[in-house]
Amino acid sequence: MTVNASPPRVDPLDADTVPFYALWPQHEHFLARFRQQLDDVVMANAFVGGPWLDRFERRWAEYCGVDHAIGVANGTDAIELTLRGLGIGPGDEVVVPANTFVATAAAVVAAGATPVFVDVDPGTLLVTESNVLAALGPVTAAVIVVHLYGQVADVDAITSVADRHGIVVIEDAAQAHGASSDGRRAGSLARAGTFSFYPGKNLGALGDGGMVTTDDAVLAQRVRSLSNHGRGHVATEHIEVGRNSRLDGLQAAFLGEKLPDLDRFNRRRRELAALYRSTLLDLPLGLVQARPATEPVYHLMVAQVDERAWFRHRLADRGIETSIHYPMPCHRQPAFERFGSGYLPIVERAASRLVSLPLYPTMTNDQVHRVCEAIVAVIEEDNR
Ligand SMILES: Cc1ncc(COP(=O)(O)O)c(C=O)c1O
Repeated sequence: MTVNASPPRVDPLDADTVPFYALWPQHEHFLARFRQQLDDVVMANAFVGGPWLDRFERRWAEYCGVDHAIGVANGTDAIELTLRGLGIGPGDEVVVPANTFVATAAAVVAAGATPVFVDVDPGTLLVTESNVLAALGPVTAAVIVVHLYGQVADVDAITSVADRHGIVVIEDAAQAHGASSDGRRAGSLARAGTFSFYPGKNLGALGDGGMVTTDDAVLAQRVRSLSNHGRGHVATEHIEVGRNSRLDGLQAAFLGEKLPDLDRFNRRRRELAALYRSTLLDLPLGLVQARPATEPVYHLMVAQVDERAWFRHRLADRGIETSIHYPMPCHRQPAFERFGSGYLPIVERAASRLVSLPLYPTMTNDQVHRVCEAIVAVIEEDNR
């Protein structure tokens, strides 16, 4: 049976249902402190720039283990401004995994460069050094390694290929706040890292926000200038045409309130992911694997099933909401077809089978069990 329409949303107030994501229980925990931050920032007029932003940038740099963190308006701008800050633009190609949110590729185009889409590893669905190697050409300037779903890609292996070919590696860590590889955090593994603080991210603001992380002082200064109308050291002097892409003081204050809980929330995500894995162990669900020696942060819990539309509808009938990340790979999106990437077999097959299961830090073990029971029932129904 093939069902094309999306399944109905579940009622989040119905205790018998499991919504795909629930932000309110997390924000309820912070609300009184958010109100205090609002009062303080308003009283200090610290809306653009100011001590809350400075402090959060310092704390985020320290958390990631880098020398510099520059707040920007969102995760897409973080990528675009990093590329521009590195002097990458028209005439340059940038390697991008096709299995990512379109923003990764849109940022490349916004910088004036050309995205070259590549396939991914079938187990982790992340880009690997061999995917990158196959796409290198005379005008390749950079590769963007996406830590998709909160899993950490092999940045070191990709960097050794990139170094041999004189190209830059950038991490898109929009889904990987706090994830690590051999004890080193995402955002510190390459020349620069970029983050999104979109509300649903592992560290989310109460609106849009983003950050660039780097040890490169020159790049940090350029990104800061580009994000602030191309200003130089003298505020009235504009050394190049930049634009306005700043992280608000208020968002920095809210993020600063949430940061101390990030590791605890990520630990809870890992516990819930382990519970899913152990409960669903024997089922043909193609759960996306983590690379060895990495500590993923499970922004998403992703499975792969045949007859996905039917599967999602049957789960919705049982009150379980799911989602898809991402149903159409970047190179097949109308916006990017002109870059003519050809057939990418792993990502194209995955795109038709991916399904994201509910996972958020305030979820209970009982809710995971309910999702798993529903999955078992749906698969048994299918086998009958
Ligand atoms: C992998 C990835 N890259 C980039 C972005 C863009 O971030 P933003 O929505 O903050 O612009 C996102 C956000 O959804 C993302 O998931």
